[in-house]
Amino acid sequence: MTDVHVLVLAAGKGTRMKSAQPKVLHSVGGATLLDRVLTAAARLDPASVTIVVGHQAALIEAACAGRPNVTCVLQEPQLGTAHAVLQAAPQLSDRTGTLVLLSGDVPLLSSDTVARLVDAHRRAGAAATVLTASVPRPTGYGRIVRQNGRITRIVEERDASPEERAIQEINSGVYAFDLAPLFPALRSIATNNAQGEYYLPDLVGIYRRRELVVETVSVADVREIQGVNSRAELAAVGGVVRQQKNDQLMAAGVTLVDPATTYVEDTVVVGPDTVLHPNVYLEGRTTLGAGCVVHAGSRIVDSTLGDRVVVKNYTIVTSSVLHADVQIGPFAHVRPDSEVREGAHIGNFVELKKTVMGEGAKAGHLAYLGDARIGSGVNIGAGTITCNYDGTRKHQTVIEDGAFIGSDSQLVAPVTVGKGAYVAAGSSIVEDVPAGALGIARGRQVNITGWVDRKKT
Ligand code: UD1
Ligand code: CA
Repeated sequence: MTDVHVLVLAAGKGTRMKSAQPKVLHSVGGATLLDRVLTAAARLDPASVTIVVGHQAALIEAACAGRPNVTCVLQEPQLGTAHAVLQAAPQLSDRTGTLVLLSGDVPLLSSDTVARLVDAHRRAGAAATVLTASVPRPTGYGRIVRQNGRITRIVEERDASPEERAIQEINSGVYAFDLAPLFPALRSIATNNAQGEYYLPDLVGIYRRRELVVETVSVADVREIQGVNSRAELAAVGGVVRQQKNDQLMAAGVTLVDPATTYVEDTVVVGPDTVLHPNVYLEGRTTLGAGCVVHAGSRIVDSTLGDRVVVKNYTIVTSSVLHADVQIGPFAHVRPDSEVREGAHIGNFVELKKTVMGEGAKAGHLAYLGDARIGSGVNIGAGTITCNYDGTRKHQTVIEDGAFIGSDSQLVAPVTVGKGAYVAAGSSIVEDVPAGALGIARGRQVNITGWVDRKKT
């Protein structure tokens, strides 16, 4: 929308969070509050997005640096919401069209609701349109005062009479404004209120006295306008985000054994007939195929899993790819840049790092496989270690197709075990093993007959 501009207020201190971090940079479901607001704003395709920053401005500016079309303006000191909007006058006062005002700490607002607000605002030819909600417990919010059904002003909790406090229709803090009268009118707002601040909602009364059109639009789902002012509210909003994602997953054919303890970030995609057990975490850019099973306590971050992958309990996978029909865990750890190909099997207490496991290869128990290229059908015995680090640099281990690594072997990289070769159990392999050979590198066994009886005497 070419004549829509978005302004996001994020200069406030967020005192009740008791945090060293700015409030709007706290995350729910893998995205910061501010990111969520900016994402909803971007869906309007606005001509510009401006953020009013104040407390810890530099941190917020840095967090927005990658976003195209977003400008930050500084509000210093913070004298109230009307004063905050005024700081954007240099950017916006010579523009025309609609200004959508959002709050950086109201992260659940959907772009559909904002679009509906803009639409109603334009159809009415309004100077201001306020997004409102009717809530059972309006405490803390500005109340919408009406006469003959029409909004006449907004009164803040602290300035409200007992009758006004009983009003259940509240100001969400989200508005659409016609830019033409906005900035001159903001300058006429005074600070004669309980907090001595410049209150943006006072604009409603000012406009009504000037007989400008002020409209309201009410949200269907009041959860959308839930603000975050405390850690408890952060958790509540996080719960809503999680529930929304879980509902989407179930609607798309994913089984959640216990949605209350399933943690899937918005960015994650899961195929149908996949089963997620309790206490599973799927994060970042993660994709799971169809028919997978992820057992309790597992965490998968920024990874791609093919179809029918089985992840047994307490497994961690980060920035890696597991192809179809892989079985992994329990207690496996796949670290970044690993690839486990079709049908391979990674068992208990096996750690991979930057390692390719070939098709159908197996590492059933207790192994460290780092910087390794492991061919198809390879069998890695229990206790195998790739010694990939010489104290200065990392080196590669190559194990070609069909090789067999006996238990408790160390492969001191750089080293190659050729196609079909065997490494005898307990070997410390420091030289390449040619294809088809048996590499054996351990102390010879000596049996001393009668030693035990002699020891006793
Ligand atoms: C505000 C509204 C209230 C509404 C509520 C909805 C005012 C005076 N009141 O109250 O009617 O029901 O939101 O959540 O507007 N901010 C700045 N600069 C400032 C002050 C605030 O950028 O000088 C920012 C805050 O960071 C926040 C937003 O504006 O993102 C709202 O400010 P806040 O102090 O939280 O207002 P509320 O008391 O919640
Ligand atoms: Ca607030």
